[in-house]
Amino acid sequence: MKADIRKVPLSSPYIDERDEELVLEVLRSGRLSLGPAIERFEELFAEKVGAPYAAAVSSGTAGLHLLCSIAGLREGDEVITSPYSFVASANCFIYEGATPVFADVDERSMNLDSAAVEAAITERTKAIVAVDIFGYPCELEPLRALAERHGLVLIQDACEALGTEYKGGTVGSHGVDAVFAFYPNKQMTTGEGGMVTTHDEETRRRLVSLRNQGRADGGGWLEHARLGYNYRIDDIRAALGIGQLEKLETILSLRGAAARRYSELLGGIEGLEVPLADDADHVRSWFVYVVTLARGIDRERVIADLERQGVATSRYLPSIHLQSYMRERYGFREGLCPVSEDLSQRTLALPFFTAIEAEDQERVAEALAAALA
Ligand SMILES: Cc1ncc(COP(=O)(O)O)c(C=O)c1O
Repeated sequence: MKADIRKVPLSSPYIDERDEELVLEVLRSGRLSLGPAIERFEELFAEKVGAPYAAAVSSGTAGLHLLCSIAGLREGDEVITSPYSFVASANCFIYEGATPVFADVDERSMNLDSAAVEAAITERTKAIVAVDIFGYPCELEPLRALAERHGLVLIQDACEALGTEYKGGTVGSHGVDAVFAFYPNKQMTTGEGGMVTTHDEETRRRLVSLRNQGRADGGGWLEHARLGYNYRIDDIRAALGIGQLEKLETILSLRGAAARRYSELLGGIEGLEVPLADDADHVRSWFVYVVTLARGIDRERVIADLERQGVATSRYLPSIHLQSYMRERYGFREGLCPVSEDLSQRTLALPFFTAIEAEDQERVAEALAAALA
């Protein structure tokens, strides 16, 4: 790459002076953990997504793991999840000894195909981890019906889906336990961090204990009622979370505008498909902007061409079951989930973040058009 080309990064957090002020306030207060910022962050978050309870945790993965632990998953249990996701969607129950069963995804939404989930259910199935991939809502209603019919726990991996709407309700409001994540490439960030939302008071109580080394309600610092973890968030990160939540509407609307701009710029280019558009029941919250290249296009060449123009990209997402540790541990091979595997070969994330400039998006579009010409 030539040295004089300005780089367009894949992602970038959106931090302002208000965030700095809130973090400084905590630093100056001397109360860095188990303090009031955490509770405030949880209250604000629960209100935003329309859930009665929220529990902040150290990461999205930690939140997913805690829900799997609360579900009582153990060795011999099977859990169905999406292969077209980030590895944490499966790791969260493998930690508890459960076995992953991957059901294929729908080619358009890239989310679990409920017919494939139904076909994967056995007498050992105990739970479904449904993912809202790239912020597009999963088909919660049929998945919920399946879970109810077969007595399964349904966990929503909404780590990419803060602000996503399904059938008129915000993800988190539907009554299903859901987990959100705040790594710096997410819609909002706390550096590292996550949030579990629930409609069940007992689940919230268990989450609060398990994230804090299994300490019991009202018990002392050195009294532990159950095997727990240190999955706490601290007040510094919670304060940043509060600052981010205060401007969430602005963030989501800037991201929506950037996505629309990309779709206009890229819509006419032959050889690529832009992300699935919203409809009345599905409103995406823009986490990443992922295009799908036509079959036969050499994605590696496109990536290299874009890199030469200073445009960062990422191969979102490899299929989880084909990761080396999954192949070794469970013997998964190509052909298990053909739709996911095909998408994994053809999808490409472009630079996308809240404050991306229109001019940079134009550069990305030009570079992509040239690479595909
Ligand atoms: C779909 C999905 N699940 C789980 C996670 C895990 O979140 P974290 O990185 O905060 O542990 C992420 C975030 O990377 C994600 O995108």
